[in-house]
Amino acid sequence: MILSPEIHIGLNQPSWIIIKHSDTGLGLFCDYSPPKTDFMTDVPTQITVRTLQQKKKNAEKISMLTAYDYSMARLLDQAGVDCLLVGDSLGMVVQGRKTTVPVTMAQMIYHGEMVARAAEHAMVIVDLPFPVGQRGVSHTLKAASKIMKKTLCHAVKMEGGHEQSESIAALVDAGIPTIAHIGLRPQSVHALGGYRVQRNAARLMQDAQAAQEAGAFMVLMECVPRSLAKEVTESLHVPTIGIGAGPDCDGQVLVVNDLLGMTEKLSPKFVRKYADVADITRKAIAEFQFDIQSGSFPSALESFD
Ligand code: KIV
Repeated sequence: MILSPEIHIGLNQPSWIIIKHSDTGLGLFCDYSPPKTDFMTDVPTQITVRTLQQKKKNAEKISMLTAYDYSMARLLDQAGVDCLLVGDSLGMVVQGRKTTVPVTMAQMIYHGEMVARAAEHAMVIVDLPFPVGQRGVSHTLKAASKIMKKTLCHAVKMEGGHEQSESIAALVDAGIPTIAHIGLRPQSVHALGGYRVQRNAARLMQDAQAAQEAGAFMVLMECVPRSLAKEVTESLHVPTIGIGAGPDCDGQVLVVNDLLGMTEKLSPKFVRKYADVADITRKAIAEFQFDIQSGSFPSALESFD
């Protein structure tokens, strides 16, 4: 039995690979997306640390969204989002927990691997879950290396700035691109007294500078006043990404489920809802239920003879 592959592709277009059986001529169709390349230079358009730093230099904004599984990550990647963050927010969004604290290494690896498999263009970043960063430099390095090796992601994110500078430096020395998450650090929600705006300007600036000095390639700021975020952004040569940090950061990140209106819960002030997927889903499921009851699904066309 010989299977001969015919690849039907268009430049930079997701396309199909057709594998034909030599005797029967029957085909097996697989979704095939060729690596995206710049049309003129043939340079791959995979987003890298350099691309993001170049964007800051060119005053081009960076887009980042959370992703937790293959199918959503694929859509976001096709839509051209620069960075997919496998955030430990999956503890709240996917698992329905109250905080990110219970999320485990195994869960981050499970979700990270699915997202990394879907991304052809976007940089994939995986969060170090609690209490990895709280257990010292060698533990952090071991955990981050495991995440890189098992998920094939491109970078990690860890909460903390100044107090994590040794760990950030160790990861960067080991070739692990690292993002520092400062301002509101959800893993420290109990110590911070809840999910509140962080207004300590000296602390924020110290964290940002220490993270940059330690080698972080990007600084994520959560829930800080916009004037402070602006000041930090202007003081750093690495890009900043904001969530609840106003419009002057070098880029913006949101939890994709919030942006798509997939949840019922009250959204934070900084969320903009671009769709009402919860409502669309409820309506589609109601129609499906109706069609089963009325006998209109499945039709003859949806059945085998
Ligand atoms: O875990 C996460 O999704 C995050 C974003 C909210 C920034 O850290």
